[in-house]
Amino acid sequence: MTLVNVGSINIDRVYVVDHIPAPGETIAAAELEEGLGGKGANQSIAAVRAGGRVRHVGAVGPDGGWAAGRLAEEGVDIGHVVTLDRPTGHAVIALDRGGENAIIIHAGANGAVPAGAVREGMRGCGAGDRLILQNEINANEIAAGEARRRGMEIIYSAAPFVAEDAAQMLPLVDVVVVNEIEAAQLAAHLGLAIEELPVRAVLVTKGAKGAVWIGQGRRIEVPAWPAPRVVDTTGAGDCFTGWLAGALDRGCALEEALTEASAAAALKVSRKGAAAGIPTREEVETFMRDARQG
Ligand code: RIB
Repeated sequence: MTLVNVGSINIDRVYVVDHIPAPGETIAAAELEEGLGGKGANQSIAAVRAGGRVRHVGAVGPDGGWAAGRLAEEGVDIGHVVTLDRPTGHAVIALDRGGENAIIIHAGANGAVPAGAVREGMRGCGAGDRLILQNEINANEIAAGEARRRGMEIIYSAAPFVAEDAAQMLPLVDVVVVNEIEAAQLAAHLGLAIEELPVRAVLVTKGAKGAVWIGQGRRIEVPAWPAPRVVDTTGAGDCFTGWLAGALDRGCALEEALTEASAAAALKVSRKGAAAGIPTREEVETFMRDARQG
């Protein structure tokens, strides 16, 4: 099976601060770190570490060759990552001592992924293959249309969240991933209960409380795993979604894939960095075994 990720690639500039600045406030950062991020890239790394066969479709600028290279080092197929004549997308991240963040993103090349690259990136795919999407890229509708035509399953993480945009995507996808607040906002926007959203399944992530899968006639409560410590929550949702898609791609049953994804996200928050903080499969398995043994 193949997992195609039409996804953003960012350079994350992380400023470690004592607190997130208030409007009008100027503060000094204690540290500055630069690394790979972007919801799409984070998801691809989680998916490949979960055992998926991942093909990333996206764009970087001339300054982003190293970022695509990081994906390749992980075993992600970057044959459909194009280089455009505009800067690589980037994120300015204020990270406080409690692991919370505030993020500004600039789309850069993520906003100009060519339709041809998207269609070409799904060449050879069909039923049994999956597409994963999020909201940091320009090509969601083209990608979803192509995947639908090919009979692929489409997993859509509605982040960054805008209720109107997410509502428009629902008829085009199979699974929508939202957090608790977003789920309530999306349901309110459509005047429906979460269980009634017009999509095959809704996955609601609940941070330290785990997650719940609602759909296809099933309601699966996903257990929460205790994070060893909370250092950096950046990319925890991407880790969850990417891991889920990757585990499903390797043939894992839904319930087990959800359980693993939740454990991976719990480990992620204990480490710094969006992509850099994503655990390996061995680390996730050890963490789950140790936690189960109490
Ligand atoms: O979800 C975390 C990601 O959001 C970061 O890596 C940053 O690039 C922003 O896109």
